[in-house]
Order: sequence, then C-alpha cells, then structure tokens
Amino acid sequence: MNLSQRPRRNRKTETIRNLTQETWINKKKLIYPLFLLEKPTAKQEISSMPGIFRLGLEELLHEIEECLKLGIFSFVIFPVVEDQKKDKFASYSYAQDNFYLHALRYVKEKFPETCIITDVAMDPYSSDGHDGLVENGKIINDKTLEILAKMSLAQAQTGIDYLGPSDMMDGRVGYIREHLDQNGYTEVGIISYTAKYASAFYGPFRDALDSAPRFGDKKTYQMNPANARESEWEAELDFSEGADILMVKPALAYLDIIYRLKNQVPIPIAAYNVSGEYSMIKASAKMGYIDEKKAILEVLTSIFRAGADIILTYHAKEMGAIL
Ligand code: PBG
Repeated sequence: MNLSQRPRRNRKTETIRNLTQETWINKKKLIYPLFLLEKPTAKQEISSMPGIFRLGLEELLHEIEECLKLGIFSFVIFPVVEDQKKDKFASYSYAQDNFYLHALRYVKEKFPETCIITDVAMDPYSSDGHDGLVENGKIINDKTLEILAKMSLAQAQTGIDYLGPSDMMDGRVGYIREHLDQNGYTEVGIISYTAKYASAFYGPFRDALDSAPRFGDKKTYQMNPANARESEWEAELDFSEGADILMVKPALAYLDIIYRLKNQVPIPIAAYNVSGEYSMIKASAKMGYIDEKKAILEVLTSIFRAGADIILTYHAKEMGAIL
C-alpha cells in the first residue's frame, strides 16, 4: 500500500504515546467534595456512594490532612443538616451558631494552603427540600436572592475562598456579588453553577444530605437536559454578573456543554462529575463489569479533553493516590 499518512506511527510505543498525548489529568485541577456532619467525631458511609463518608469536623480535618499528603488541595464542603433545624426560610444557613460556618472557619485557619469552596443553596436547610423559597407550591425567585445573599455573606466571613451558588435562581450571581462587595468582601470569589441540569444523576447526593425535594421536582429552575444554546445564555449572564469560574453539571452527559462554554467565555470552566456518575462506576466495578481504575481515568480524561479546566469529583482522593 502506498500510504503516506499512517496515524499508527504515533502510537508505536508507550513513550511515543506519552509524547503525543494531548490531555493529562492533573491532580492540582481536582476538587474533592466533602459532607460535614454536626457531631464532631461522627463518620457514616453513604450507602449509595461506596468509599464516600459523611464526616464530623474532627474526621473531616483528618480527611483533609490525608488529601493534602496525596496532593489534593481543593475541597467543596456540603453540610448535612438535621431535620429539626430546617425551616421554610433556610434561616439556619446564616445562624450565629451554625456548625457549618464554624467548621469552614476552622478548616481555613488550620489549613490556609487549601482552597475551600462552599455550597450556597437553600436545599440542605429547607423543610421543602427546594433551592428556593416556596409559596403556594411555587419557587419564588427574588425573595430567594435575599436569603442567598445573607447565606453568602455569612460564609464569606469565615475566610473561605469561593462561594458556590448551586441554586439556579435568576440574577443570583450579581445579587450576591453586590452584597459581598458592599460589605468589603471583594476578594471572595464565586464559582457559579452556571449550566446545572435537572438530572437523574444527583440521586446519591440527595441521599447523602437527605435533601430530596419534599414535593415536585427542580425543573422550574434547573435546566432542561435537551437544551444546549440556553447554556450560553446562562454563561453570558453569570460572566457579566461577576462570576469568576463557571460550572457545568453533571459532566459526562454534558461534554458538549463544557466544550461550548469553554469556547464562549474567557474565564475557567469547571465540571462537576456528580454523585450518580461516581456511583455508576463503583456499582459496575463491584459487579465485575468494568475495570474500575481504567474507567475512572478514561472518564476524567474525557472531561478535561472536552475543555474543563477544573473537575469536582468524588474520585479526587483515589486519583491523588493513583497519580
Ligand atoms: C443542590 C445540589 C445538588 C448537588 C449539589 N448541590 C443536588 C440537587 O440539585 O438536587 C448534586 C451534586 C452531586 O450529585 O454530586 N443545591
């Protein structure tokens, strides 16, 4: 055969394959999600997420210390709030004696080299299990913004690095940014959940937090999985309202959205490799259907290849050990 072009030449040896590899997983680009319990010494495995635990503050500090040794420096922390502290207004989210706020302050004091990201949303604290204020069965956008702004300021005051509004209310990035700036917190950043889809892949996370909606679903605020152009609208808004990093969520079924936003805005793009994506790999590996380690590497590589600058993933700690 007279073939002048033979792509296989660049796949000849391991060394050559490494030289010509376009995408590498870098553990400095991974964020590890952690679930915080109120009782300091508690540790509970989440049954639908093997290997992931809800941790009290003492255990959480221990976990962070182990991650730092493995080269994982960035964390997003979610609070597990007891039912009796939940109400319609999520008022515990900015209460003086809130254990989550206390823990955030403690973590940053003890490990100043970490990057700590918070969760800004009503659902962990809401008796309705929604990300917004509910009136007559509807999610009320503008009144929710006032609650999110109070929650954001309380979190910013703990010394964290980025707020992570995960609620999908309209106008929240601008409203939070203005509230922070007016109070002198110009250096606290916002990682905005920009294109967050109404997805089936959040199931295990809602188990972890016991935060499933008490009625209905989240389709009036989270995006329709069938829509791509709409993500560009959301991205334009969050960028112009002052977000520092945009996020696409989930990651795997939305690689095209990551690719779009990467080409649209000049700020970093994060992707959330969510709970259901993690559990799918763990479950099929347990059944012996796939090679777990190879599947994790392939999944994370594909998210970076699509254009993500940063990945939030429950695999972060195990990747720290593998890489
Ligand atoms: C809610 C929130 C969710 C996740 C992060 N923040 C779930 C939801 O929208 O119901 C999901 C993360 C995951 O599945 O890993 N504010």
